[in-house]
Amino acid sequence: MSADNTPFIQEWLNNTPEYNPGEDYSLFEKVFSLPRNAPSILSQVGSTPLLKLGKMSSSLDNVKIYAKAEWFNPGGSVKDRAALAMILDALNSGHLDGGKRILDATSGNTGIGYAWIGASLGIGVTLCVPKNASPERIKMLKAFGVDLILTDPLEGTDGAILHAKELAETDPDKYHYLDQYSNPMNPMAHYLTTGPEILRDTQKTVTHFVACLGTSGTFVGITKRLRKELPSFRAVAVQPDGPFHGIEGVKHMESALVPGIYDPDLVDETIFVSTQEAQKMTLRLAKEEGILVGVSSGAAVAASIKLAEKIEEGIIVTILPDRGERYLTDSFWR
Ligand SMILES: Cc1ncc(COP(=O)(O)O)c(C=O)c1O
Repeated sequence: MSADNTPFIQEWLNNTPEYNPGEDYSLFEKVFSLPRNAPSILSQVGSTPLLKLGKMSSSLDNVKIYAKAEWFNPGGSVKDRAALAMILDALNSGHLDGGKRILDATSGNTGIGYAWIGASLGIGVTLCVPKNASPERIKMLKAFGVDLILTDPLEGTDGAILHAKELAETDPDKYHYLDQYSNPMNPMAHYLTTGPEILRDTQKTVTHFVACLGTSGTFVGITKRLRKELPSFRAVAVQPDGPFHGIEGVKHMESALVPGIYDPDLVDETIFVSTQEAQKMTLRLAKEEGILVGVSSGAAVAASIKLAEKIEEGIIVTILPDRGERYLTDSFWR
């Protein structure tokens, strides 16, 4: 481990000598349950508010829709949870010894997670990002000191993934490839934190969980945790309605490289949402609920409403992955 890790992390690792990467997750439970006033910004990851979308569900008699406001994480998105879990696991397994840099492919939010956590812990970060990622995100990554490799926009995130893989193979002494698409700590972060928060905040009354699929870490981790506690709850995956779409961070599985962590057996139902539906709902969330979020949040809520209109009763929980400021240069905002 590099010498300039914060004393907080050093102390934390020293106090858990029995920790065995891949088997014992008490380390992550500890950091994610740190009190808010702990002397590190890392203590601010997780424990996000569960908001009731009152106006959106006001015409629905016996169905309520709640949403996790994931932009309350320090890096402004749901991906802080996975980034923190993957980095801590790499640190603790010695994969970052000798000043190795973190390397991954990301369309933005995971990269921002790696970037601020890397800066906070003194770990170098190199990211492969499609050139068409939003300019706000690219500037933010640069602000945290990330070494950016911009890849062909026509190849999307899949092109960035192939580039990162190649780089990791070419220079294994320089980089540790975190590979968020196959890293079990990505869904594990949600199994250990987001899932239990949903169970706690709904007093285990949640009947349906709805989430978009990117790496699928959020969907897989939360679904596994909720299913363990509530065997009859239903998990609904949200996908764009075609391969060419404008819902950033989200994959159309049939036409994409399927992430290694994805488990289609966990999906009870898939709801497809068009870019236009997602954008329309994003605007409605701002105007009617006072919630300014990104387009994947609009897609998740549009799917939640489609689901709500089909079921007789229930408590739906969905995820709002990030806030809208990141996308304000998109032309659909009027
Ligand atoms: C804006 C946004 N929404 C949704 C997702 C999907 O999350 P996951 O990768 O956990 O499936 C991502 C992932 O990066 C994202 O950036």
